[in-house]
Amino acid sequence: MKLQTGKSLLHGTIEVPGDKSISHRSIMFGALANGETRIRHFLRADDCLSTIQAFRDLGVQIEETPDEIIVHGVGFGGLKPSKAPINVGNSGTTIRLMMGILAAQPFATTLFGDSSIAKRPMNRVMLPLKEMGANMTGHEGSEFAPIAINRAEKLHGITYHMPVASAQVKSAIIFAALQAEGETMIHEKEKTRDHTEEMIQKFGGNIEVDGLTIRVSGNQAFQGQSLTVPGDISSAAFFIVAGLIAEDSEIVLKNVGLNPTRTGIIDVVKAMGGDISVVEDDLAGTITVKTSRLTGTTISGDLIPRLIDELPIIALLATQAEGETIIRDAEELKVKETNRIDAVATELAKMGADITPTADGLIIRGKTKLRGAKVTSYGDHRIGMMLQIAALLVQDGEVELEKADAVSVSYPSFFDDVRSLFDE
Ligand code: S3P
Repeated sequence: MKLQTGKSLLHGTIEVPGDKSISHRSIMFGALANGETRIRHFLRADDCLSTIQAFRDLGVQIEETPDEIIVHGVGFGGLKPSKAPINVGNSGTTIRLMMGILAAQPFATTLFGDSSIAKRPMNRVMLPLKEMGANMTGHEGSEFAPIAINRAEKLHGITYHMPVASAQVKSAIIFAALQAEGETMIHEKEKTRDHTEEMIQKFGGNIEVDGLTIRVSGNQAFQGQSLTVPGDISSAAFFIVAGLIAEDSEIVLKNVGLNPTRTGIIDVVKAMGGDISVVEDDLAGTITVKTSRLTGTTISGDLIPRLIDELPIIALLATQAEGETIIRDAEELKVKETNRIDAVATELAKMGADITPTADGLIIRGKTKLRGAKVTSYGDHRIGMMLQIAALLVQDGEVELEKADAVSVSYPSFFDDVRSLFDE
């Protein structure tokens, strides 16, 4: 696909689609609750549709109307065996959280996905679940999908010190713990997104969080709820950066979720001298960005989980900042939809960026002029979207993006929303 290039004067207001992490969990909790759950502003993108299909395969009735998704919850005891292996597509959240849900069920299930899913590490989820009594295995005894989950005896609670900062791992353990005998105690390495914990409370369950320690007891039951999913800050991130780096621009982003475990990008933009304002209401807020003079910064430590999905677009931002930006402690980027350290470094270097991959991050020196090139998303939605924003700055030459359709994993209307900023 030929990308839009050479754009300044980006102006407009965008309401980004619903949060991906919250949309997945709303279906999961809705299915596992008793009674009806109604979800507004659900993200109808490939990843979350995979979660809907997974629960339909498990016998849950889910209706899609223009305004909402209606899940007819069956309770933890009401799931039915799937007639065929369940396809999670490209969705790491679906496969890992479903492993926790299904580990405790009295029937067998196989989970598989696309070629990216088949390369992603699953021991991080399988090992703690096995400690709880789960019986599961990866392809030919490896840790990789397809994952065969066999019926287990009743699971039991454990105390677990997480070796990685991962909300997917934490959530998988929590879903198993909710169905186990006794209490589970999880110690996080660093604080990660807490949507699962929040949703347990919303659906009438109990969970105790004290700093990095989480306690959750088994044999819980939930009640269906009505909820509205806030806009995804990880989708807003592409336009936050576009507004800061395109000449003479101002972009307003409405209804963006501002859960503090997700707002690391706002802190980074401020540290780099970006003109960003945030007006909060209850659940969400309005973010306004304007073209800015930026300086490099260092991004590391416990900030990383608060912006892990935004690092590709933050790397682009750094190419337009004066001086050096150092991203470290981000080795998790290597095991996302693609190896995002290599993908970002390779593709932005093709466009003229001064960027060096390191063992746990990137070093970017700015400010550089970007030029036309033939680039690829590697089938990774966030790499594809970052490259379109980069292309907006290109004055000389064309940018041809391979595998552009990957954006539908989290943001099907992305290219339309980009165009709305200069068509108005
Ligand atoms: C997610 C957690 C993150 C993130 C992913 C969604 C979630 O993964 O990268 O896009 O919804 O829990 P990790 O928790 O494995 O870092």
